[in-house]
Amino acid sequence: MDQTNLKKAAALIDYAKSIAILTGAGMSAESGIPTFRDTLTGLWSNFDPEELANRRAFVQDKELVWGWYEWRRMMVLKAEPNPGHLAIAKLAEQKPCTVITQNVDDLHERAGSKSVFHLHGSLHQPRCLICGAPFVFPPEIPEEPEGGRRLPPPECGECDGYIRPGVVWFGEELPQDVWHKSVKAISQCDLLLTIGTSSLVQPAASLPNKAKSLGKPIIVINPSYTEHERIANITLHGKAGEVLPQLIPY
Ligand code: OAD
Repeated sequence: MDQTNLKKAAALIDYAKSIAILTGAGMSAESGIPTFRDTLTGLWSNFDPEELANRRAFVQDKELVWGWYEWRRMMVLKAEPNPGHLAIAKLAEQKPCTVITQNVDDLHERAGSKSVFHLHGSLHQPRCLICGAPFVFPPEIPEEPEGGRRLPPPECGECDGYIRPGVVWFGEELPQDVWHKSVKAISQCDLLLTIGTSSLVQPAASLPNKAKSLGKPIIVINPSYTEHERIANITLHGKAGEVLPQLIPY
């Protein structure tokens, strides 16, 4: 880790009055949740996530898609926030921080962050595919479905529909209120941290460009190169769970 850049980043964080934090799957990687574009591990490794995360796939084979999401939900329920999530929650005790996450887990909230916008929905808030009625999961952790195992989704209590995952699928609109609040948070912050995202999926990936156009400084934290490095003031090449606690001791 470049100590000069680390010090500069710590100074920017210290100086900022209000911070927006855009996170992606890399944020939860050290909690044991595979990133979206990592080859899926174990028994689900033969499936392409983009082929499962869309409405057409659910309509064609709802048991396969539901089984995959139940596997992911099971992993999230067993996971714990990592030191990166905890450092972000600590920062929010010191100054206003808004977390804008592409992640469908609840690890920011479980770490203690209060202001969290979920651009891509949540694994924990399923609803009816047809009428939109919310569905409440039973409290126990689901058994690990084997790779490719089909699980029937629950039926809706209000209509004849099936329950679908509460996430935003490819080809779907983002929740408009969440998007508008996220754009507002970018306009109002005076520093943006972008952490653990490949910056490939729109419109989330446009938020750092928006910040840049408004003259906000940007810090990127990612072990690998991403496009947003080109507009970042500082890039810290490292893992969220290792870099963030050095920037924000907790
Ligand atoms: P990706 O899986 O595309 O990218 C994960 C990023 O995290 C990569 O840039 C990795 O280099 C980085 N990374 C890996 N380990 C890390 C660590 N320990 N600390 C920090 N960074 C690390 O995930 P997203 O960018 O979140 O959307 O993907 C965006 C969206 O694409 C997802 O929300 C999902 C997917 O399609 C939907 O499902 C709608």
